[in-house]
Amino acid sequence: MARRRQLYEGKAKILFEGPEPGTLVQYFKDDATAGNGAKKGTITGKGVLNNRISEYLMTRLHEIGIPTHFIRRLNMREQLIREVEIIPLEVVVRNVAAGSLATRLGITEGQRLPRSIIEYYYKNDQLNDPMVAEEHITCFGWAATQDLDDMVALTLRVNDFLTGLFLGVGITLVDFKLEFGRLWENEEMRIVLADEISPDNCRLWDAKTGEKMDKDRFRRDLGKVEEGYQEVARRLGILPEAGPRDMSGPEVMQ
Ligand code: TMP
Repeated sequence: MARRRQLYEGKAKILFEGPEPGTLVQYFKDDATAGNGAKKGTITGKGVLNNRISEYLMTRLHEIGIPTHFIRRLNMREQLIREVEIIPLEVVVRNVAAGSLATRLGITEGQRLPRSIIEYYYKNDQLNDPMVAEEHITCFGWAATQDLDDMVALTLRVNDFLTGLFLGVGITLVDFKLEFGRLWENEEMRIVLADEISPDNCRLWDAKTGEKMDKDRFRRDLGKVEEGYQEVARRLGILPEAGPRDMSGPEVMQ
């Protein structure tokens, strides 16, 4: 495929101009960062696995009526997506206490929460993605009240659906992060799910043993990082068809 004009490079993905107006190509890298770039590494084969896992989850979500930016996967590392205006918020959903919630509030990691919690973080690397309240979001115009209502409604549906989907393959969906964008069609605006859903932005634990199968293996130096991602894909029944050719890990380099 001819090389396209690069529009943006993030920590884990690159966006290229798409083949038609209103489309982009999203390329998944093997690069991994944690702590807002404080820790850097490479997880061999991660991009291939995340491309496939995100395609699978976005497709299943589309089937239950969740609007997403995903159009189709193009190859091992690229997918075609709709160009959206990204809302500068990370929407985090938590079902079980872990990570920053456990640290910040002194709650034991692994404790199931009596109900799911939604948190918002302002996407700004220079500020370290600070947690914000609805008041900040509407006051500073990052999203309107109606946008937020739409995002919360979609987030709760995504959480219920993915919780069941993962439980069906023996995985507890502990928490995850979503991003949304505005899609303009004939003067009409819709909020759609954007970015990716993969072990980079979900905490996924084996439902029986509690073993971690997500980016915490990298963040916390637990080893067998790529095996974790591969196991998630295997359980979902979607290991890339070409097999481990492009995934001869595990290999974490810092
Ligand atoms: P946290 O416990 O570190 O706040 O993370 C909560 C969830 O959100 C976890 O599944 C990882 C995900 N996440 C991201 O995808 N990107 C981020 O920048 C952060 C802070 C968290």
